[in-house]
Amino acid sequence: MNAPWKSGLPGNRDPFSAYICDDSALDVIRPVVIELGWQPEKCNKGGLRNAVQSLSVSASPAILLVDLSESGDPLNDINALAEVCEPGTVVIAIGQVNDVRLYRDLLGSGIHDYLLKPLSPQQVHDALNQALAVFMSPKAGDADAAKRHISTAVVGTRGGVGASTLATSLAWLFSEQHKAPTALLDLDVHFGTGALALDLEPGRGLTDAIENPSRIDPLFIERAMVRAGDNLSILSAEAPINQPLMTDGSAFVQLEDEFRQAFEMTVIDLPRNMLINFPQLLADVNLVVLTCELTLASARDTIRLLSWLKANANHAHPMIIANKVQPAVAEISKADFEASIERRVDFVVPYDIKAASNAAKLGQVFVDANRSSKATAAIRQIAERIMGVSTDDAPGFGGEKKSLLGNFDFKAMLAKKPKVDLSQAD
Ligand SMILES: Nc1ncnc2c1ncn2[C@@H]1O[C@H](COP(=O)(O)OP(=O)(O)O)[C@@H](O)[C@H]1O
Ligand SMILES: [Mg+2]
Repeated sequence: MNAPWKSGLPGNRDPFSAYICDDSALDVIRPVVIELGWQPEKCNKGGLRNAVQSLSVSASPAILLVDLSESGDPLNDINALAEVCEPGTVVIAIGQVNDVRLYRDLLGSGIHDYLLKPLSPQQVHDALNQALAVFMSPKAGDADAAKRHISTAVVGTRGGVGASTLATSLAWLFSEQHKAPTALLDLDVHFGTGALALDLEPGRGLTDAIENPSRIDPLFIERAMVRAGDNLSILSAEAPINQPLMTDGSAFVQLEDEFRQAFEMTVIDLPRNMLINFPQLLADVNLVVLTCELTLASARDTIRLLSWLKANANHAHPMIIANKVQPAVAEISKADFEASIERRVDFVVPYDIKAASNAAKLGQVFVDANRSSKATAAIRQIAERIMGVSTDDAPGFGGEKKSLLGNFDFKAMLAKKPKVDLSQAD
């Protein structure tokens, strides 16, 4: 009974049934059951013994109300019930013994609640409602119900640092390598390169969404997004540049909401001006990939963006990526950059102009076109870290599955061990 809840109502599983000893209790329960939209015929006369008998030959309901009044040894009988009851059923016991120890023992054996007779309609109503909430809530270890979603915003500290290259590459890796259903939302509405990088036409989906946010629903998502692979859908635009963007940002927030239901991963290519205009876009973002280059200007803007994130989206875990790195010709060294932003760079992606031009020539995303490039290897590591399947040798991540969704551990680890270098060896 206290086993993890399995999603859905398998087979002919009913939402509810009750086994009650006396008519006066049944008279209280039946109207409440009707009010909740369940069948009053599911309120059976008879107590715990009858429940055990009938559940041994039929499917268990989602919620079971069972009367212990005629049971000489309630704990023993509850164990018999547990043997015939399918995992996940939320059981509420009813009885006339007012004994805290019994109550505790019952809870200990997996009973959700114990109601004392005489029953009141309000008490039954509240208990059933609460049981319903428990039944509907995902349980730990229930992979289907606790559907995870990781939302990553990729923000460039300056134009041209490669934020869009990273965003498309990460989305491609999540969907192709990790087989996770992925949405790529390109919020560079006028000059977006998300579709371009995948050699696709952006379509009107994003423009329609901005013009008509009320139309955004699962069907709209299904129709408006451009398929870029079995697991990758993209929403991008090349909005006309003769008119300003007319939006309060609500369309973007709604799109993010829908993506959370429909996909496992969301990647948002988020230009920094959009971040300033619509801070609400980060409300449900788990991770911000701050893409920078090793220059003075980028260091300054990394500092400013980090402090903005701290003030406005403290829940979102920032990850610092230095892109296009050429150690010999860096404007400032990695060590100086890190000293100035007062934190470590998480990953370094080397400069690879051949790879960039190859991707452009082939009309493929950077990592797809250049599978053996060192830059691709670095971006692959970033994707793995985000997916939580990193097997790199970073302390605390050794082969363990760890998602950044549980990034409090990650943060704590960083706080405790400031000297640990989590960055890729460069
Ligand atoms: N690691 C890299 N090495 C060489 N060129 C790169 C690298 N990353 C990105 N680029 C190139 O830099 C240019 C700008 O990248 P883009 O992703 O559009 O930047 P942003 O979105 O930050 O403005 C593109 O032509 C891209 O191919
Ligand atoms: Mg861009």
